[in-house]
Parts: sequence; structure tokens; C-alpha cells
Amino acid sequence: MKKLMFIFGTRPEFIKVYPVIVEAKSQGNECIIVNTGQHLEMLNELLEYFQITVDYDLKIMKECNGISDITSNALHGIDKIIKVESPDVVFVHGDTSSTLAGALGAFNNNVKLAHIEAGLRTYNLQAPFPEEANRQMVSLIADYNFAPTETSRYNLLSEGKKIDSIYVVGNTVIDMLRYTIKPSFTHSILEWEPEKKLILMTVHRRENLNELDELFETINEIAIKYHNNYKIVYPIHRNPEIRKKANEILTSSNVKIVEPLDTVNFHNIMKHTHLILTDSGGIQEEAPSLGIPVLVLRDTTERPEGVKAGTLRLVGTDKNSIIDAVELILENQIEYNKMSEASNPFGNGASSKQIIDIINDEK
Ligand code: UD1
Ligand code: UDP
Repeated sequence: MKKLMFIFGTRPEFIKVYPVIVEAKSQGNECIIVNTGQHLEMLNELLEYFQITVDYDLKIMKECNGISDITSNALHGIDKIIKVESPDVVFVHGDTSSTLAGALGAFNNNVKLAHIEAGLRTYNLQAPFPEEANRQMVSLIADYNFAPTETSRYNLLSEGKKIDSIYVVGNTVIDMLRYTIKPSFTHSILEWEPEKKLILMTVHRRENLNELDELFETINEIAIKYHNNYKIVYPIHRNPEIRKKANEILTSSNVKIVEPLDTVNFHNIMKHTHLILTDSGGIQEEAPSLGIPVLVLRDTTERPEGVKAGTLRLVGTDKNSIIDAVELILENQIEYNKMSEASNPFGNGASSKQIIDIINDEK
């Protein structure tokens, strides 16, 4: 059995790493958990709920002023921890600044690096920014590339990664749904104006921050137009820039802005949602599994599998494009059914076991 170090710092990283930690522990590995602290409240709530004891919390957000600070402060702390612990393998997930710092920490100390959710690409370094660059840099130095789909495997192969370093295992977010989805569930959000169908929205991408006025004005217009039959709920990101604009613009009485939801609530509310509007990455993977149509508020996606399967539609941040897409899906049942009945292309919920089996099989 091995000494495995898991490094994460944001909400989505934890959500997708948690099932891998559970599997690693159940197979008898020693697990060292490192939280960079990039996300404070949004992550700490989750750690508490899932009873994960963090061995090292770098608490970097306090002194951070942007992505260079996040990356350098995290790397500084991670380097010391790797030197003290000497793990056999360091795991990072995805494409955040914490991911990049964790990967560099492993590489600089000659420790094997495993990258979960490897090979997602838009090939546009500005979208998502800085995530596309982060994940390409991590792929350059990773020893194990755990790709969720054949498309991501193909991306890595075409960049020259060795074939025997790539494993297609599905996305661990599907494993996570097994821990969160409840057969019976109630929540005050579902009970609010219950006769109206729920539209759930989230917005947080850095490249969308300049578009927030138009985006929120458009959504407010949609809320007013469909006031009689629909309600919009927006669990809002902690970013103060987003909060200020949202509170100013989203004023229709059938829009409710709420604090970020813990993931058990969020996943179960998603399941009872009619439509999702989002620029999130993880939600694009969860929604197909739950049969919920998603209009992606971005011009490009690293998850083309969901678009091909039919659950996701890229609508960008342009007003007319969003309004046209919402109209089509809310007013045309055949279009709605096409999206909600598409099948999930992101795996069968056994990714974590495959990942840990592969790591433990290696001499
Ligand atoms: C980060 C990741 C992004 C990921 C997202 C998931 C980077 C560069 N970006 O973006 O890839 O999709 O997390 O949500 O790594 N804040 C708090 N408390 C929190 C979290 C955030 O106050 O718990 C505020 C802080 O003011 C912070 C701001 O939100 O400065 C932005 O947070 P940051 O982690 O820099 O970027 P995200 O947009 O969350
Ligand atoms: N999520 C959550 N509570 C919320 C909103 C989202 O738990 O209020 C979950 C969601 O189910 C998904 C993840 O957070 O698993 C996505 O995080 P985010 O959109 O912040 O980041 P991204 O996936 O874009 O990197």
C-alpha cells in the first residue's frame, strides 16, 4: 500500500477528489490531505459535512490578491509539506491555481504526479482563463493522466503524452453523486412558490466578469417574461464583484439569490430543477447524469461530450442568444425532451476505484 497525498483548494476539486480519497483509504493506503485554503467558506463547509480531516491547511486566501498570489503562496507551502512527508504519489484535480501549485510541488520534488480529470481542452488560453493554461501545464508534467473520456484521451495523445500514461476512467463527479443524491428530499427552495418550475443558475467564471451587466440584465428580463410559471434560484459565488452586480440587477420578484448551497443540497435541488443556466464546469457533468438540460453561459466548453450527447447547449453571454435558447426550451416540449433524455457521457460511477486500482497495481 502507498502513501498518497491529495492536494486541493476549491469546492469543485474537493467534490471530485472526495470519492478517490474514500476509495484510497478503503484499499488501505495512507492518505495525507492538503488544503491550500483557496476557497474558505465554500470548502470548509464541505470538509465538515464529509468529515474529512485535513492534515495541512495552508490558509492562503487571507494573503491572496489574485491568481499569482494564490499559485505562489500555495506552492511555497506545498513544497515544504512534500519534503516532510515524501509521498509516493501526489494527486491533483482539474485546472485551478491550487492544482497547478500542487503539480509543480510534486514535479520539483521528483514525486510521481497523478492528474484527475486530465485532458479537458478548449485550446483557447483565454477561455477559461487561467484554467486552460493551468491544465495544459499540468499535463506536461503528470505521470498518471486520468482522463474522463476518449475525447480527453485523444487530446493528450495529440499533445504527445505517452499512451501508457493515460487511463480513461470516467469522471469522479459521477461517483460523488452516489454519496449525495437522496431518494426523498425536501428543501425550502423547492417549497418556495411550488407551483412554479425551478430554473437554477450559477455564474462565476473570471472571463465572464466583464459581461456581468448584460448577463444579469438578460436573466432578469427572462425572469419577468416567465414570471407566472417559473422561478429562478441563484446560489451565488462568494466573489464580492459578482455579489454586488447580482444584487443590483436581479430584482425580479421570482428571482431568489441565496448563499452557496452545500453540495448535498445542491445536487438534490438540481435533480428537481427544470432547467439550468450556468458557466460552471462541474455542473455540465452532473446535469446529464440527472437528466437536466443546461444552457452553458460560455462561448466554448471543454466538455464537448455533453453538447454531443444533447444535454448541454452553448449559448454564450450574448443577450439574444440566451433569450432565444431559453424560449426554445421552455416553449417547445420536443426540444426540452431531447435535452432532458440525452444520456450521460461521463462514466458509470466507478472512476475512483479504477484510479486507485491503477495506482496500487504499479510497483
Ligand atoms: C476558482 C478557480 C476556478 C474554479 C472555481 C470554482 C482559479 C484561478 N480559479 O475560481 O477554476 O472553477 O474556483 O468555484 O483557481 N471567495 C471567498 N470565499 C470562498 C471562495 C471565494 O471569499 O470560499 C472570494 C474571494 O474574494 C476571492 C474570489 O471569491 O478573491 C474569487 O475566488 P478565486 O478562488 O480566486 O476564484 P474563483 O472564481 O472561485
Ligand atoms: N455546487 C455546490 N453548491 C453551489 C453551487 C455549486 O455544491 O451552490 C457544486 C456543483 O454541484 C459542482 C461544483 O460545485 O459540483 C461546481 O463548482 P463551481 O461551479 O464553483 O466550479 P467549476 O466546476 O466551474 O470549476
